[in-house]
Amino acid sequence: MIKIRINNIEMEAAAGETILSLARRAGISIPTLCHMDGVEHYTSCMVCMVRDNATNSYLPSCTALVSEGMDIDTSGEELVSIRKKAVELLLSEHRAECEAPCRVVCPAGYNIPLMNRLLASGEYDKASELVMSELDSRELRCLSCRGYCENACRRKKIDRQLSIRNIRIFIYQNLNLQEKQDQSAGVQEQPAELQDQSAGVQEQPAELQDQSAGLQEQPAELQDQSAGLPGNTGLKRTFSSRTGRIGEDELKEWLKECKGAEKRFENITDFHSAGEEAKNCMHCDCRASEDCRLRDLAQELGIRDRGRKVINAPLTKKINHRTGLIFEHAKCIKCGLCVRVCKDKKEEPGLCFINRGFESLISEPLTAEFDDILTTQADLCISVCPTGALSYFTGHNKTR
Ligand code: SF4
Ligand code: SF4
Ligand code: SF4
Ligand code: FES
Repeated sequence: MIKIRINNIEMEAAAGETILSLARRAGISIPTLCHMDGVEHYTSCMVCMVRDNATNSYLPSCTALVSEGMDIDTSGEELVSIRKKAVELLLSEHRAECEAPCRVVCPAGYNIPLMNRLLASGEYDKASELVMSELDSRELRCLSCRGYCENACRRKKIDRQLSIRNIRIFIYQNLNLQEKQDQSAGVQEQPAELQDQSAGVQEQPAELQDQSAGLQEQPAELQDQSAGLPGNTGLKRTFSSRTGRIGEDELKEWLKECKGAEKRFENITDFHSAGEEAKNCMHCDCRASEDCRLRDLAQELGIRDRGRKVINAPLTKKINHRTGLIFEHAKCIKCGLCVRVCKDKKEEPGLCFINRGFESLISEPLTAEFDDILTTQADLCISVCPTGALSYFTGHNKTR
């Protein structure tokens, strides 16, 4: 057995054990991004660095093996600074937004893109549950809000903002109507105004129908997207990745998610019009926003992304129309875990590295179409991906 000290704890380890594994046995947590138990990895992110005081050297704990006499430190200012630099380097080419502009400026932090995804995929009950779960003391803030979300909506740059307020108000009124119906059912006849099921919901009051009247300029403190999340939104997370300037061609990449959206609805009177309007959402957020190891680590290290990207990774979206898999190159940290999974599981054609050095990218093989890859291992690739680079088109956000 090998004798080793880790954070001043004397331990014994078998030859061939990594420092990371030893640390975990000792109950010590070390951050990782490109490492996944059971998957051979490429040692690329360097956020797992530790210090060996015996040799005065820094080692990636996920790969470095224990050796006799090591005196390992896993924390301290110097290591935090190294990890911070490693994450900042990854973020320097991470042209991606954790949260959509509509949600960033919403004073209640309502998850608008997720609601739109659920509506667009016909999951009306789940969309209603989401809206219900976000209510503050049973009140919908949209009723008294000036519509900052619509003012910030990226779709406006293409044609017209999404009817976010009217969608939410329709869902809210529909929920209230259902509740009233449930209460009165079996006790007495429903009042006439509640009997019209085909309408699904009551007419919105006139003052709520006029979208344009409700939309006003955002206050100055909400306009500066580059400053990060404004302090008065309902969002709890402090770290949010930013894209930097978005080119016109790049905007069109987001439109790829609006396939099948034919009609726009300003007034929302039923779930059909809500769903059709929601199909025009460009899904500017990241589906991994609640489950991203890169975001978690950046937040833990107190990093702020100011949107200045060193390497201008083009914003592209590849969509596999057979499986609904989406790959976003600018969110990929090139850890290679998905490539390893494809190799281990003999998935052909799967994902692979193409090009070399700074130009290297994750891609379908040059001889295959994106529509033809990952027919069996897409779920596993999404779950090992430490970011939102791989996700599904459907209504659900990523959860491991
Ligand atoms: S991959 Fe992670 S850090 Fe990047 S945009 Fe998505 S949630 Fe944010
Ligand atoms: S297009 Fe959708 S996700 Fe993007 S800002 Fe508008 S409502 Fe939000
Ligand atoms: S797609 Fe995800 S798993 Fe694959 S290399 Fe990029 S970040 Fe890693
Ligand atoms: S987790 Fe060790 S190098 Fe990425």
